[in-house]
Amino acid sequence: MGFPDIRMRRLRSGPHIRSMVQETRLSIDNLVMPVFICEGEKVTVPIKSMPGINRYSIDLAIEECRKITQLGIHSVLLFGIPSKKGNHVGTDRNGIIPRAIKAIKAALPDLYVITDVCNCEYTEHGHCGIVVNGTVDNDATLEILAKQAVLHAQSGCDMVAPSDMMDGRVGVIRKALDTKGFSEIPIMSYAVKYASAFYGPFREAADCAPKFGDRKAYQMNPANTREALREAELDIEEGADIIMVKPALSYLDIVNQIKSKYTIPVAAYNVSGEYSMIKAAAANGWINEDAVVMEMLLSMKRAGADIIVSYHAQRAAELLQ
Ligand code: PBG
Repeated sequence: MGFPDIRMRRLRSGPHIRSMVQETRLSIDNLVMPVFICEGEKVTVPIKSMPGINRYSIDLAIEECRKITQLGIHSVLLFGIPSKKGNHVGTDRNGIIPRAIKAIKAALPDLYVITDVCNCEYTEHGHCGIVVNGTVDNDATLEILAKQAVLHAQSGCDMVAPSDMMDGRVGVIRKALDTKGFSEIPIMSYAVKYASAFYGPFREAADCAPKFGDRKAYQMNPANTREALREAELDIEEGADIIMVKPALSYLDIVNQIKSKYTIPVAAYNVSGEYSMIKAAAANGWINEDAVVMEMLLSMKRAGADIIVSYHAQRAAELLQ
């Protein structure tokens, strides 16, 4: 049977029927808001390339997190920007992130705090690991990542999210957490992280642009799908609880394939460049910002993302009220 017996427009004729047959719904529960934390007191540093996003000192980060929870968002992803960099800054017990976790959890015990586990925000060269003879040494980096994850757990975080793309790190982090009594802390692995130009604004935000070379020797080639499935599979075997795909917009096919192939929850990271493009177009009056943001976040959900990390989370939460 076809036209004229079948008319697809019958189910689009008004808001009630459209809503009844809507297949995908975005919910505030899906959203995670990233928060950048810097040293000092009463410090707000606007990130020029990401209008509306700031770095906050811990005291003001607490206030920002309070606003986030008041909007109904349950979870934040913390990035720390220390004032002094070095190979072991990320494993310092009194470092920016351990202090931030403690302060935020003390003020807002109900907020679900996820931490980025990586070296690029902490090292002088801006690479995600320990550099030996001009390259990032995989196995030497694993030890530091495991220490960092344990330190975050000891400081009270609810979940760790390794974003470095070293081989074997999920297994090493899982083992370290379990040995130290943190077997209940989940790992959200940035299993499929592409070497992407969409991270540009984040590198200003987190002051982590590599000082030499690029990240292509550890992040994935944007041309590859089968490799993404292999990465996901390995991380699942190593004990990842959630698999993340990053960036989101240009990689919705990958989100979709991982969702259909595995039973593990999937996260998508709507990265800085994706945010800034919308902000720039909206500032020029070229697009309707709110409508584009909601369409874009919905597309990530439709593709298969259960969790969406996005700098638009607060505005989206307002629109979802
Ligand atoms: C690095 C890290 C990056 C992002 C999250 N964690 C940047 C990179 O790999 O260069 C990017 C996030 C964004 O662009 O919003 N550990």
